[in-house]
Amino acid sequence: MSIVITGATGQLGRHVIEALLERNVPAGEIVATGRSVEKLAGLAGRGVQVKAMDYADASSVAAALKGARKLLLISGSEVGQRVEQHRTVIEAAKAEGVELLAYTSIANADSSGMKLAAEHRATEAILRESGVPFVLLRNGWYLENYTDQLPGTLAQGALAGSAGDGQVSGAARADYAHAAAAVLLAEGQAGTVYELGGDEAFSMADLAAEISSATGKTITYNDLPAQEYAGLLTGAGVPEPFAEILADSDLGIARGDLLVSSGDLRRLIGRPATSLAEAVRAAAAAV
Ligand SMILES: NC(=O)c1ccc[n+]([C@@H]2O[C@H](COP(=O)([O-])OP(=O)(O)OC[C@H]3O[C@@H](n4cnc5c(N)ncnc54)[C@H](OP(=O)(O)O)[C@@H]3O)[C@@H](O)[C@H]2O)c1
Repeated sequence: MSIVITGATGQLGRHVIEALLERNVPAGEIVATGRSVEKLAGLAGRGVQVKAMDYADASSVAAALKGARKLLLISGSEVGQRVEQHRTVIEAAKAEGVELLAYTSIANADSSGMKLAAEHRATEAILRESGVPFVLLRNGWYLENYTDQLPGTLAQGALAGSAGDGQVSGAARADYAHAAAAVLLAEGQAGTVYELGGDEAFSMADLAAEISSATGKTITYNDLPAQEYAGLLTGAGVPEPFAEILADSDLGIARGDLLVSSGDLRRLIGRPATSLAEAVRAAAAAV
């Protein structure tokens, strides 16, 4: 009987496995799955079970879930294909009699107007109809969505976006991962919906001010109409469909779609979430 983590070759999945190991789960009870098992060799060397799983290949999903007691389904990254991919995993989990399926959804999935939320909402509906015991980890934005851009932001001397003065409850991937680990190890989670986000929401102007303070370089925030922002991103080499998703997500931030005030993240991890200031300072020190 094991805890299976999908998307373990990705950034969140890796953090979750480290969080489970930190919580003294025996490595042999953790199954790290991904499309490229060679990317998981380091974990295999530490005693973690490693299995191939491609959401688009039902037989690989069924084989990887053999003996699974709990399952973390990390939402896929192929936008547009995710509903059917997630359905494949949920059906396999049902066939295997998984006791708990935790799914990484999006903050405020039931009310969010963001285009990205549609596939999460559809996946949640499949889960409800499936009869599989499930818990929803409705993750908010990653702080890394901003801190990973720091070198470019500093080079430009400015941030651009379409979020207006909307606020976002960003949190570090590692914090969401610790929350996922806590839920996977707790009893009585079926039917719970967690709205997860940082303790203090911030606007893009707050982010610019935080970067200015951490780096000593004045960074301004330029708010643009969504089409103009998407055009700026494509001009910088971002593929058009992704640029449009990013601009649409900023409009969601302007509406408050990524605002979370539940306190669920802090409660699950048992400490304050990593703050924007801490994350920006760490990223600035690494530049
Ligand atoms: N909250 C946020 O701010 C935010 C931002 C971006 C994404 N997300 C969502 O959160 C998820 C996890 O975030 P992350 O930072 O860990 O993303 P990531 O580093 O891109 O990892 C995505 C993971 O999903 C796996 N995957 C994609 N398609 C798959 C398929 N067909 N079959 C099996 N595995 C598949 C990837 O495998 P490969 O290594 O084989 O590609 C990878 O392991 C993302 O996939 C996305 O749904 C959230």
